[in-house]
Amino acid sequence: MTREMVQTFGEQRAPVIVGSGVLASIAKRVREVNGGRNPTKVLIVCDGAIELTWGEVVATAWKDEASDGIEVMRIALCATESAKSVASWQLILDAAVRGGLDRKSLIVAVGGGITTDIAGFAAASYLRGIPWIAVPTTLLGMVDAALGGKTGINLPTGGGALGKNLAGAFWPPAAVLCDTLTLSTLPIRTFRAGLAECVKHAMLGDTTIDPLLEDALRSYSSSQAGDQWRLIDLVARAAAVKLAIVARDPKEANERMLLNLGHTFAHAIESELSSEVLHGEAVALGLIAASNASVASGRMTQAQSRMLRDRIAALGFGITLPRHVSLEKLVIAAGFDKKREGASLTLVLPLAQGSAEIVRGENWELLRDGFRSIGSS
Ligand SMILES: NC(=O)c1ccc[n+]([C@@H]2O[C@H](COP(=O)([O-])OP(=O)(O)OC[C@H]3O[C@@H](n4cnc5c(N)ncnc54)[C@H](O)[C@@H]3O)[C@@H](O)[C@H]2O)c1
Ligand SMILES: [Zn+2]
Repeated sequence: MTREMVQTFGEQRAPVIVGSGVLASIAKRVREVNGGRNPTKVLIVCDGAIELTWGEVVATAWKDEASDGIEVMRIALCATESAKSVASWQLILDAAVRGGLDRKSLIVAVGGGITTDIAGFAAASYLRGIPWIAVPTTLLGMVDAALGGKTGINLPTGGGALGKNLAGAFWPPAAVLCDTLTLSTLPIRTFRAGLAECVKHAMLGDTTIDPLLEDALRSYSSSQAGDQWRLIDLVARAAAVKLAIVARDPKEANERMLLNLGHTFAHAIESELSSEVLHGEAVALGLIAASNASVASGRMTQAQSRMLRDRIAALGFGITLPRHVSLEKLVIAAGFDKKREGASLTLVLPLAQGSAEIVRGENWELLRDGFRSIGSS
């Protein structure tokens, strides 16, 4: 029960495998992408919260294969934004030096977007780059963070603030293995947060994703074959949208910016309500805001925007800010968005026919319309 796709990043091709129970065969799959050879050494970098569950499954899969003497090492990381840091990156580099990893060794990142971002960046920088495998274990990781080749860490910007992803590299993994069974241990709120990125991908071009979302919510914690198949189908379709865009524009010269749909709004919401909303919850609000900005600019109808809002509500997301935040605070927060160029603001606005447009210009009024639609004033 697997779906296999290919991530194309410039000249590089990497398999993206989505299936139920695929982690048990990770060693075999690594050999396949490695021309039939085992790596010299393997360093598993695992989110500490799942070290004893999914980290163990990955380590055991290699133990079974260890007869020809490959050495498998493990370290655990803390998966918080404040620990997505130089210190965690260094922890991996230290382990790589201690373990004597060489250019034919492999880093395997097991966890959500925080873990794959840090471990991928360590792989990019150790010995000027060694191969790595992404094993995303959150829905957001499977359909977004582990795809597209971006890796990185946060840097402090003073006064306790975190500059998100300020250090990083484009360094795509040699393979992405999405085991939908790993989703079964996610808290429902974290799982739902990933659905917001799936809604975004539906809006960017694959409307067949929409009817799968509520089913996925009902079946995420089940290991029944039928339910697993639903999850595999959702992950594969949502991942395919990002893979297609990245293949056409790997380094975000233009089209890849579409993946920021809803995110200018979301980042502003997160910067004001960071302890109250998850990224995906902010994205859900951001998508509603973006669709209302689209209505205000004549790109969508009221009825279409209302349909989107109802779909998002049906998934259990809040459709207004959890508490009042002033419009000006949010606009200022959006003004510090790194996509700002001079006085103009780049907004990604959804279009009626299931795609989106990158709109550059003095879009501050549209931004306000968007924030008003989710309860700011
Ligand atoms: N590189 C990219 O292109 C890209 C794109 C989008 C997001 N990101 C990054 O991804 C990060 C967010 O990723 P995320 O939402 O996956 O967050 P995350 O890695 O923090 O995981 C969310 C939570 O789920 C826990 N967890 C992970 N897998 C689990 C499992 N199977 N069972 C139980 N608990 C589990 C983690 O410990 C954590 O508490 C952000 O840092 C963001 O910047 C990167
Ligand atoms: Zn996002």
